[in-house]
Amino acid sequence: MFIKKNKEWDIYKNITSEKTFLNRRTILKNMGFAAISSNLIMQTANAVSIQNRDSLYPVEENTKYFIQEKDIKDGIRKLTDEYKATNYNNYYEFGTTKNIKRSASKLVTSPWTISFTGMIDKEFGIDIDDLTKKVELEERVYKLRCVEAWSMVVPWSGFSLKDIIKIAQPKPEAKYLVMKTFFDPDKARSQRQDWYPWPYTEVLTIEEAKNELSFIATGVYGKPLPNQNGSPLRLIVPWKYGFKSIKSIVSFEFVADRPKSFWEAIQPKEYGFWANVNPKVDHPRWSQARDKDIGTNKMYDTKIYNGYKQWVNYLYKGMENSSNLYR
Ligand code: MTE
Repeated sequence: MFIKKNKEWDIYKNITSEKTFLNRRTILKNMGFAAISSNLIMQTANAVSIQNRDSLYPVEENTKYFIQEKDIKDGIRKLTDEYKATNYNNYYEFGTTKNIKRSASKLVTSPWTISFTGMIDKEFGIDIDDLTKKVELEERVYKLRCVEAWSMVVPWSGFSLKDIIKIAQPKPEAKYLVMKTFFDPDKARSQRQDWYPWPYTEVLTIEEAKNELSFIATGVYGKPLPNQNGSPLRLIVPWKYGFKSIKSIVSFEFVADRPKSFWEAIQPKEYGFWANVNPKVDHPRWSQARDKDIGTNKMYDTKIYNGYKQWVNYLYKGMENSSNLYR
């Protein structure tokens, strides 16, 4: 893949000068549109920052984790078409259909502060655009296998979740990493439905979070992550069902005791904590033996840990033949 080297000035070249920005604000306020102006200013700042994010991608590909899956008829399984992967989404904050792109576009993703809390030396917050300067961005092609028995093969850009652990420096007593999505019922109207345990929450053991596959995606297909895929940052844990891969994260919390994750709280019999892909443990309502590629509609035999066994097996020693791999 074409590699674009970022130069220091690339990051700044699109920023509106402070003077222009403040002038716009004064003019709008003088016109008596204070409320509208603050909305416009937010949108302008959002657009400027997102343009700057554009200049970060594409990034160099790390081919170590690219699993080439044999397709019986046509040879190697290919990348899922970009249009399909960015237009067929699960994002319950914006609705229960796959077609949530338009509603998700309302989410303002800049500024975007991520808080680090819990069992760490000093709690702090950092904006996503400062966080991406502290880490090495790379591209990884991963298979994402949804619990609904569909899958896709996608080039994500981002950084290793291990970097988050290095930055936060959790205390040894911390056993779990808890991640949460924003809570903003004005923008995400489904969050007005209070029978769901908002905000969306996901949990990994610290050992899982340190695994080399655990990835924070900030981009996809060589571009910044679009809102519907979890902008500005989301988790990707490819050996687990897709619901573990939480979108639009606003907090990382290090804790000693395991809290319930979103789907576990709603229906623990159907959506377990471990959620490791396992073709032998069926969902109570359907088989997990095979999965359908959303791009081509071809069927594949689902593999244990979604084909990533060599990297994650050590995490589940003693659990191999048990449905605990799932629940
Ligand atoms: N994260 C949040 N915050 N809200 C969600 O509804 N859905 C999950 C996961 N992360 C979800 C989420 C599910 S069920 C899947 S399969 C994947 O996101 C889908 O990711 P995609 O839309 O990028 O394919």
